[in-house]
Amino acid sequence: MKRLDGSSLSMVKSGIFVNEYREIGRRFLEDTERRGIMKIGIPKEIKPAEKRVAATPAGVKALTAHSHQVYVEATAGIGSGFEDEAYAQAGAKLLKKAENVWDRADMILKVKEPIGPEFDYMKPGQVLFTYLHLAASRELTEKILAKKIVGIGYETVQLQDGSLPLLAPMSEVAGALSVQMGASCLEAKNGGMGILLSGVPGVRPARVTVIGAGVAGLAAATVASGIGARVSILDINPVRLSYIRDVMQGRVVTINSNPANIEEECLNSDLVICTVLIPGAKAPKLISRDLVRRMRKGSAIVDISIDQGGCTETSRPTAHEDPIYMEEGVVHYCVANMPGAVPRTSTIALTNATFAYVLALAEKGWKRAIAEDLALRKGVNVCEGKVTCEPVAQAFGVKYSDAKL
Ligand SMILES: NC(=O)c1ccc[n+]([C@@H]2O[C@H](COP(=O)([O-])OP(=O)(O)OC[C@H]3O[C@@H](n4cnc5c(N)ncnc54)[C@H](O)[C@@H]3O)[C@@H](O)[C@H]2O)c1
Repeated sequence: MKRLDGSSLSMVKSGIFVNEYREIGRRFLEDTERRGIMKIGIPKEIKPAEKRVAATPAGVKALTAHSHQVYVEATAGIGSGFEDEAYAQAGAKLLKKAENVWDRADMILKVKEPIGPEFDYMKPGQVLFTYLHLAASRELTEKILAKKIVGIGYETVQLQDGSLPLLAPMSEVAGALSVQMGASCLEAKNGGMGILLSGVPGVRPARVTVIGAGVAGLAAATVASGIGARVSILDINPVRLSYIRDVMQGRVVTINSNPANIEEECLNSDLVICTVLIPGAKAPKLISRDLVRRMRKGSAIVDISIDQGGCTETSRPTAHEDPIYMEEGVVHYCVANMPGAVPRTSTIALTNATFAYVLALAEKGWKRAIAEDLALRKGVNVCEGKVTCEPVAQAFGVKYSDAKL
């Protein structure tokens, strides 16, 4: 909208610009009505130790610039280093109670699946855009279905090439972080053999083996080789290994993944990082207890795949408060939500990836947004009481309905 300066005001008073401004106002209202102004709610995460938030102040500013109304629960961004003030300056309305945020919003943006009181706050027809991981919990799925919401899971938004754009940023974080956590496991005070990954002049660097050359694997290999470790990376996919060889320009050794090669690499490594994923399935146990027993004493395993059950027979999930344990003389780090250790980076990485989808949902409404974007449509897990994601329907033996409208 044009701003009126002093001279314009006097002309308006004299009636010269009145019609022009009426016309601008009419067009603005028409445009607003056509696009639809969405009320978007951002509650504070309540899952224990979860410090991420579903939108940064910059994201909120972009939404309010498109005339959407954003409600943010007070202190929602604090864990990621974003003050209430920054959200207010971005145009959000700060609300003290989570239930008020849920009550006012057409669409709720979250990071983790809803828990506890959040089920009571849901309204039929409300859009919920968050990590859902429904196949892992029948109870959660039943509760969400009963609420007749439109549940769009970040983890099943899928591009045509099969990649998962809203999962990848967290795998990037976990992969990069795994090297720093592995380095800490190798410190003497943590039971490690007391070696520095990079080595120093005259002392050889550590040997790091990365099993799985996907998103997390490449991030781990990049960081490990960047600080000077000698890195080998294994995968069953030759095309992926070829890609890694190209992008890493010889700085890591690529090896076909099979039991013999895994054994040889593990026995010769100081740090083993597991990043294997078979989509939808439990992680395969590629490293037996016997192999762990024969690894170097004080070496370390970081099992990123622990959220899918883990790749070694000796892996069990741990939490950030007490992340490592010793098994068969090898230090293990098996935290299932590694990005939680670096909430600010994780929040920014996640929201960078989600924002375009959030804006599309806000601008077009969920029906048009999913009709125009196949990737987003794959994210619709439940829709007004129906299961609209095939793997979730299969997991619980319930009827699958297409989210196509
Ligand atoms: N712990 C955490 O906090 C955390 C965070 C993010 C991601 N993750 C997990 O990390 C894992 C990896 O995620 P991603 O995004 O990198 O997956 P991805 O699909 O990009 O990569 C997985 C790779 O594993 C390879 N693979 C499959 N079977 C193999 C085998 N037998 N040997 C060697 N390689 C094999 C695949 O070919 C693929 O390249 C997933 O389980 C994911 O859930 C964990």
